[in-house]
Amino acid sequence: MPDSEPIAVIGAGLMGHGIAQIFATRGHRVSLFDLTREILAKAVENIRANLTLMARKGIGSAGDIEPAIRRIRVTQDLGEAASDARFVFEAVLEKLDLKEKLFQELDALCPSDTILATNTSVISITEIAAKTIRRDRIVGTHFWNPPYLVPLVEVIKGDETSQRTMDLTIDLLGSVGKHPVNVKKDVPGFVGNRLQHALWREAISIVEQGIADPATVDEVVKKGFGMRLPVLGPLENADMVGLDLTLQIHDYILKHIERSPEPSPLLKQKVKEGEFGFKTGQGFQGWSPERMERCRRDLLEHLIRWNRDHGKG
Ligand code: NAI
Repeated sequence: MPDSEPIAVIGAGLMGHGIAQIFATRGHRVSLFDLTREILAKAVENIRANLTLMARKGIGSAGDIEPAIRRIRVTQDLGEAASDARFVFEAVLEKLDLKEKLFQELDALCPSDTILATNTSVISITEIAAKTIRRDRIVGTHFWNPPYLVPLVEVIKGDETSQRTMDLTIDLLGSVGKHPVNVKKDVPGFVGNRLQHALWREAISIVEQGIADPATVDEVVKKGFGMRLPVLGPLENADMVGLDLTLQIHDYILKHIERSPEPSPLLKQKVKEGEFGFKTGQGFQGWSPERMERCRRDLLEHLIRWNRDHGKG
């Protein structure tokens, strides 16, 4: 797919504005749809702020920012956004009925060979596609926040998604500097969130059992095995230590690891007591405004540094 081919992004919130930014900075014309002028104006403002910060930190050049912004056409008219798009990325609220209806509308509005991609975090791609005619051209593209800094995109094959749709989607995402991976089955949590929440379940359980406090659990990850993760995935690590040893360890330890199919009672209790984390200033730990700001800044700077060191942007 040539770089200049038009892209539509539906939903200009946290994820949508970042997805639009990825394509606009790589030379695509982008139609960005949302419900109000205010949301769209805020999205463009956020893109400009993201690109300005990145340029200041050595990713991309300041002179490329306005040309990228000019490639984005904002609209409240779904037909206008969709009518000439070769690829549509949906990033509206995480509600099945909303996504189902939107995909039916897009199916009717888009050229017949346009690929429709959903950024859903957990909803089945197959269900979102169920009421459309072009079920072979509907695919999951699960970006991670912030999408312009986290390289991974899980490309998920719904039950009826064609291999050609998978290939074209993976090619397009690779061409704009993302790291697409092939998820062969449409299962809840895809790959990334299954792994991530297996870890979170165990982390919460360790706190619940009084084995270690929350700050210690996080330190164990960040200063211990987490240090290896950028260069050594869990299966590479298993191969490195030996599958014979991995088997012996699993034989001993698996029966001691949390395997509840329900959310933890500690998590439920915290939510009941209004301890939501950053939203209320108290979660597993206490969060002052300064500490939250520092945490957000550290994360952003870490991600920017990684992208700069890897020649992205
Ligand atoms: P958001 O709430 O920031 O943005 C959603 C946007 O959709 C809003 O601007 C809203 O006005 C718009 N919208 C609402 N109803 C609409 C409609 N009928 N038609 C068009 N637009 C409509 O949400 P966010 O966080 O950007 O999430 C979007 C999608 O991405 C969800 O499916 C979410 O699960 C998924 N996702 C979110 C991640 C995150 O970290 N926030 C990570 C990966 C995926």
